[in-house]
Formats: sequence, C-alpha cells, structure tokens
Amino acid sequence: MAAMTIAKLAKKKLAGEKITSITAYDASFAKLFAECGVDFMLVGDSLGNVVQGQSSTLPVTLADIVYHTQAVRRGAPEAFVMADMPFMTYASPAQACDNAAELMRAGANMVKLEGGDWLLETIRCLVERSVPVCAHLGLLPQSVNVLGGYKIQGREQSAADNTLRQALALQEAGAQLLVLECVPVALGQRISEALTIPTIGIGAGPHTDGQILVMHDMFGLNSDYLPKFVKNFLADAGDLRGAVEMYVAQVKAGQFPGPEHSFE
Ligand code: KIV
Ligand code: NA
Repeated sequence: MAAMTIAKLAKKKLAGEKITSITAYDASFAKLFAECGVDFMLVGDSLGNVVQGQSSTLPVTLADIVYHTQAVRRGAPEAFVMADMPFMTYASPAQACDNAAELMRAGANMVKLEGGDWLLETIRCLVERSVPVCAHLGLLPQSVNVLGGYKIQGREQSAADNTLRQALALQEAGAQLLVLECVPVALGQRISEALTIPTIGIGAGPHTDGQILVMHDMFGLNSDYLPKFVKNFLADAGDLRGAVEMYVAQVKAGQFPGPEHSFE
C-alpha cells in the first residue's frame, strides 16, 4: 500500500471516509498497526502514563519521544508517524523549531502541540520551516495542573465558542490536523464541520473526521481507571490483531464511538 500523506488524510475528510489512528510506542505494535491498515500512528506523550508509569505526561522528555519514534519508525517504515512535543519543549517558537527538528530526524512525519492562541506564531514558524503540525484542543493533559484534573472541556457555551474560534485560528496559522480531546458531541461536530482540515477525536463523539485511541486502552490494559470513551476491543476480538482490525472496521463504519463512549 502506498504511504499515507497529509493530502490523503485531507481527501478522506472530503470523501467522508473516517480516519483511523492509534498511539504506538514500539516497533512490534507499530508493525501490527501498519499491517491492519491504521491510517497514522501517534507517538504520544501518553507514554509517560502507559509505558513509564508516571501519573501525568509532564515528566516525559524530548529524548523519550525521540527513542520511541525511532522504534516505531523501524517497525513501520512506510507508516505516517506523528510525534508529540513534550511539556515545555515548545515554550517559544525557536525552541519549538529546534526540538521539532529532533523529532523529524527521529522519523516523525508531523509533530503535535497542545494549545490554542499562544501557539499561532509557533505553528507559523514550524510550517514555514517544513515541519507539518497537528494542533490539539479540548482537554490538554500537559495543562492538568491548570485545569485541576482530567475533565471534559467546552461544556459551557462561551467555552465552546472559544474553542471553535481557536480551532479556526490554528488552521489559519497552518496546522493541518486537529486532535480534539474530551469535548461534548455537539462541539466535536461543530468544529469538524467548520474546519477544512481533518479533526481527530478522542472522547469527542462520532462526528470528528477520525478517531484515535491510546493502544493500551484499546486492549483493556488500564484497569484502575477506565475513561468513558475507551472500549476494550480485545475482549470482543480475542487476539491483538483481531482487536485492531475490529477497531479500524468500527471507526470506518461509524460504529465507534457510540453514545456510551461520548459526552452529550
Ligand atoms: O499522548 C497521547 O496519547 C495523545 C492522544 C490522547 C491524542 O495525545
Ligand atoms: Na499527548
């Protein structure tokens, strides 16, 4: 299969075809996800939680993401790989450029940053220097100490309007994808319809242009705390490959996420 590109992801949005994505941190799972036809993989700073056992993503370093991006790239040489920029590695445009370069050299095709208005200049800088950017709005795990917990965002009308406004500004600044995390179904739909770039949801309802899940959640590995938007595909499918295939099929068919995985 020909390599995935940002242009092909954008075409999927136009054609109304759902985009499928999973986090990946090592070569073996990256290979499995590529074989199952997952459209792109994210080397997420969620690795702080699921790989390192940290209680937040804040301790994750650039070197950690470089290491895991290299592993994912080796396992899936043709895959479209996005890498998260960790907490405080993009505090200024210049710092963001230096650090994004490391991730691109490690094998990433695109980097992801959490935030809205304060990132517009940074995004312009990166895109002008040939680093594709995915933005991230809604629940921002790197801001957990400001938000006071991992809570749904954009419930009030003013917050929803503000999130939509920031999404449009991020697109205007040059972001080519937008992750929406933990927002009500109606806001996920409103933003996805307003933007020309694809939206990728996690806990953002069924109307985003694509879906992403943390791989451990898809396999039912996080036993102490199960967010509402998570589904254990392994329980139904019986083996890892079957679970990934079921996830891909259900996202493409619009069957996942269902109302039981979404916030009204
Ligand atoms: O780090 C991560 O896994 C993420 C996804 C939840 C989008 O940012
Ligand atoms: Na992340």
